[in-house]
Order: sequence, then structure tokens, then C-alpha cells
Amino acid sequence: MSVDDIRANAAAELDVVIKVNGKPVSCRVPVRRNLVDFLRQDLGLTGTHVGCEHGVCGACTVRLQGRIVRGCLLLAVQADGLSVETIEGAAESGELAALQDAFVERNALQCGFCTPGMLLTAAELLKRNPGADRAQIRDYLSGNYCRCTGYQAIVDAIEQVSR
Ligand code: FES
Ligand code: FES
Repeated sequence: MSVDDIRANAAAELDVVIKVNGKPVSCRVPVRRNLVDFLRQDLGLTGTHVGCEHGVCGACTVRLQGRIVRGCLLLAVQADGLSVETIEGAAESGELAALQDAFVERNALQCGFCTPGMLLTAAELLKRNPGADRAQIRDYLSGNYCRCTGYQAIVDAIEQVSR
């Protein structure tokens, strides 16, 4: 493959249809655009954040086919034909209401940068393990970084809903 071929492939675009928060979105995206950039820049869904861009911090957490994934580690074209749910969709559905209330009551957010990813991750944990204890909550959140709170209040909030 020549350098020109490589450049041409990198600049290529594909048509995709992705169901986002329940609505099909048809568009043409660069093959190298990652899912979180697609959601934020192309669709304006900026509730999903971008931190490390290396799959480490959890700021870009979204659901793909109902399971949480790192939006920075997937290409948008990999979601073609699949369902993606962002914090906007999950919040609008009301399913996060108890967690959102608990985060407010327990002061579980400061700058809020990590909060969308924390909420989606906590919701996934409570779906799998509705009675999760503090150790299980800490373990499940270990891939979501918070630079503000020290985690104590976040664990308190999730434990409140767990109980
Ligand atoms: S931005 Fe994706 S894990 Fe940090
Ligand atoms: S509240 Fe600021 S990063 Fe968690």
C-alpha cells in the first residue's frame, strides 16, 4: 500500500445509521472519528465528556446495545446499525432520577466532569447488583476517575440508592 493509499483511507468517509437515544441518525462520518467525538461534535450531545482519550478515565462512558462502553475507544463506524444511549437519553427517560437525587443530596459532584460517566456506570452496577455494598461500588467505579470529590460522597450516594 502506498503512502497515498494510506492517506486516502484515513480521509475516507462512510454512511452510517446509528440509533441514538432511540432515534435513528443517518449520516456520513470519517472512518477515523471516534464515537464520543461523533456524539459531541456531530450531534451536539455534549453531556458525554472527553478526558484521557485512552480508555482510562471513564468520562466518555456511553451505552452501546445497552452495555456501558468507552466512547473514546470505539469508532463511530463501529456503531453502524447499533443503538447508542448517552447521558441525555438516560436522564430523559427518568431511569437515573434516584441516582441523580442521591448525588445532589450527598454532594457527590463538584465540577461535574466525571458525573455523567459515574451515573451511567452506577446505573449499570445497580442493574446487575441492586444491593451492591460499598466495596462492590468502589470496585465497579474503579474505571471512572474523579479529580474533585475523593470518591467518598459518590460511594455514599450510590450506596443510598442501593439500599
Ligand atoms: S476519555 Fe475515554 S476513557 Fe477517558
Ligand atoms: S466532580 Fe469533578 S471530576 Fe468528579
